[in-house]
Amino acid sequence: MIRVTVEVTPRPYDVVIGHGARRELAHEVARVAPGAKMAVVVSQRSVEESGWLDQIDPGIEHHVVLIGEGEDDKSLSTVELLCRRFVELGISRHDLVIAVGGGMVSDVAGFAAATYHRGIGYLTVATTLLAQIDAAVGGKTAVNLPEGKNLVGAFWQPLAVLCDTEVLSTLPPAEWACGRGEMAKYAFLGPDTPSAEILSLGIDEQVARCVAIKADIVADDEREQGRRMILNYGHTLAHALEAIGLEHRAQGNEDRVAGLRHGEAVAIGVIFAALLSRQMGRIDDDRVELHREVVRRFELDTEIPPGLDATDLVVAMERDKKAHHDLTFVLDGPRGVEPVLGVDRDDVLATLVEMGAHR
Ligand code: GLY
Repeated sequence: MIRVTVEVTPRPYDVVIGHGARRELAHEVARVAPGAKMAVVVSQRSVEESGWLDQIDPGIEHHVVLIGEGEDDKSLSTVELLCRRFVELGISRHDLVIAVGGGMVSDVAGFAAATYHRGIGYLTVATTLLAQIDAAVGGKTAVNLPEGKNLVGAFWQPLAVLCDTEVLSTLPPAEWACGRGEMAKYAFLGPDTPSAEILSLGIDEQVARCVAIKADIVADDEREQGRRMILNYGHTLAHALEAIGLEHRAQGNEDRVAGLRHGEAVAIGVIFAALLSRQMGRIDDDRVELHREVVRRFELDTEIPPGLDATDLVVAMERDKKAHHDLTFVLDGPRGVEPVLGVDRDDVLATLVEMGAHR
């Protein structure tokens, strides 16, 4: 197994990566929470149906609670239901939550753990590539409000994260594409010249490389006061595409934007960010081409889905302002990738039109 330590204070924790890492759960529980007598395993029907849940053994008394799978289930009502179930089961401040699933499960179960009894310990067994290389690591937990995604949450670091790469063998192609989009993002965040060289490694090493980049950034800026924002490279456009996709799905429109997965949207967002950087004179044509080459090597789309309106996209971006009141992007430049505040709306519109959006 590969271990990557996330050096947060006061309690650093390990991400354990490898084929069969889920079988380390009892050992990790005994190591990080020796006083725990009981655990609630929070998961979803799809994980149960895949058979992986049967093999989850925390080594102490445990009870499985399933949450819904839809974006609507990522809500305060689900957190309330979970916490009420914790009370019924008699979960104490020294007991544990164990999230088994993708990013939605660790977000919701992690937030319930962050707030139940003012905070109890949790571990995550991450079952998707996206969760293993991003969502489960770094302690961001959150649920949605009707007004937007991830608007209520907490920074609450897990006690340990298990990334079982064997579980990825049953991952559907769409979930792989989703994880690959986030992996492509990391190519631009490390100290080396961006490349898709990571794809030549085995899957354990691919996951470990991404986790190590994220661990370094999180240790430096746990609460996203600055540097951690670079983990959102490609995300401003991605969130706008996802918001419009959600609207299309609600209208019964099954077009390309409606079917875009998070990581796929991030990949398009990375290309958009490169073009916007060039529009602002921060990088040159070669650097934009490098972005395209890298993203294509991950077999991901680099184009905005057809038929979208540039102004609608900007409006969606302006609505997604968690940290700042103006248009903020993470952009490449002479010092590498960094947050850039107060980007001119006209530059954003021009770049969207360059990518084929309607003016
Ligand atoms: N997914 C971005 C972060 O954890 O900061």
